[in-house]
Amino acid sequence: MMTLVFVVCAYLLGSVSFAVLMSKAFGLADPRTYGSGNPGATNVLRSGKKIAAALTLLGDAAKGWIAVVLAIMFGAHSAQGVTTIALVALAVFLGHLFPVFLKFKGGKGVATALGVLLALNVWLGLAALGTWLVIALVFRLSSLAALVASIGVPVYAMVLGLPREWVLASAIMSLLLIWRHKSNIQNLLAGKESRIGSKKTAQ
Ligand code: G3P
Repeated sequence: MMTLVFVVCAYLLGSVSFAVLMSKAFGLADPRTYGSGNPGATNVLRSGKKIAAALTLLGDAAKGWIAVVLAIMFGAHSAQGVTTIALVALAVFLGHLFPVFLKFKGGKGVATALGVLLALNVWLGLAALGTWLVIALVFRLSSLAALVASIGVPVYAMVLGLPREWVLASAIMSLLLIWRHKSNIQNLLAGKESRIGSKKTAQ
């Protein structure tokens, strides 16, 4: 019962889109109406308002982090603690991808996954962030950075010796994240993906 309450609360928290909230707060257009149409920090950055993009990144990461930290604090000591935490991690991530408040059309999950990973294990989160930063700095392609980082995450989780439920949860998040980047993958292959800082996106 406790697990179900945690999972539902995590899903609802994940459903809060900081891209939409911050865009409203800064009087910007809805991010679903321009650029890639993705309600995420990278697309909000295309509005030109860096602070709104930074707060989107922070908010979307924070909701993933908070959900998992609360599950660790209050659920870890139960018999199914490790499983509860893995399910909460997936629930907050799925809330971001399929938000009940946005007719189930959400973002791609990069920032929320980062928050989740940092909460599960700080080294796991830092390894994912480090991978993202290296690729992003070298190629200036946010989607490529996210794709490479997500391939690395389950491997990092195994190397760190995390519980198999968490390795599985991180692998499922990675697969979903890659699937959500279908259009980015097509643009990358066609050499049309827009670079970080550019307002243009492929048609
Ligand atoms: O955070 C999502 C990023 O990897 C790609 O975003 O707007 O270029 O599709 P976008």
